[in-house]
Amino acid sequence: MNWKEKTLCLVPRFLADLYRYNPHTAAVEILKRLLTGIVNYNATTKYFCAPCPTDTARFKEQYIAIYKERTHMNTTANDAISLLIKDHREVKEMFKKYEGLTDRSIVSKKKLADQICQALTVHAEVEEQIFYPAVREAIKDDDLMDESLVEHAAAKELIAEIENMNPEEDLYDAKVTVLSEQIDHHVEEEEKEMFPQVQKAGLDLVELGKKMKALKKELEIDVS
Ligand SMILES: [Fe+2]
Ligand SMILES: [Fe+2]
Repeated sequence: MNWKEKTLCLVPRFLADLYRYNPHTAAVEILKRLLTGIVNYNATTKYFCAPCPTDTARFKEQYIAIYKERTHMNTTANDAISLLIKDHREVKEMFKKYEGLTDRSIVSKKKLADQICQALTVHAEVEEQIFYPAVREAIKDDDLMDESLVEHAAAKELIAEIENMNPEEDLYDAKVTVLSEQIDHHVEEEEKEMFPQVQKAGLDLVELGKKMKALKKELEIDVS
């Protein structure tokens, strides 16, 4: 097998691995590569492959870059942005689970809604104490950062109401649904507007991630 054949075998495997590791990043990477013609998608084999056999030098160069990225990513799974995205996905899953509960599942509803509230409280605290101040300093976009804080404050009010209620009370479900919608909107702004700016700002995201992980651990002990 020459290097090109090997590469063609490895690329799909790499993308599959990357997808398992971080679906969001993998999807963006695949899209980027499709758009720039670095990777083509073969609908018959359902594999990603090199665009054109004559373009091997460019592909080899790009493949090395992809490989380096992968190696880098494996060692930086705990960077600040990966940690926050992981939290976002977990909370989204919990909201989905809540939606699936029947009106009679009072105990499960209360348990799950309280778990959601705790997870969001810890997440917001980690962002406000460590991530946001570092980002505000680095990206110089005060409007965006102020907006995020106001959205956190609105979510906290709703969280406090939900925590003090039980599922049999009027508006309980509605409050959980509105919280879910507010969080969806907030997460979209963070992931689409804030994080791309953070990635370009040259912050030490691994170091920041370490501090965030430590604080999260402390806060989780406090709330449990
Ligand atoms: Fe967040
Ligand atoms: Fe946030």
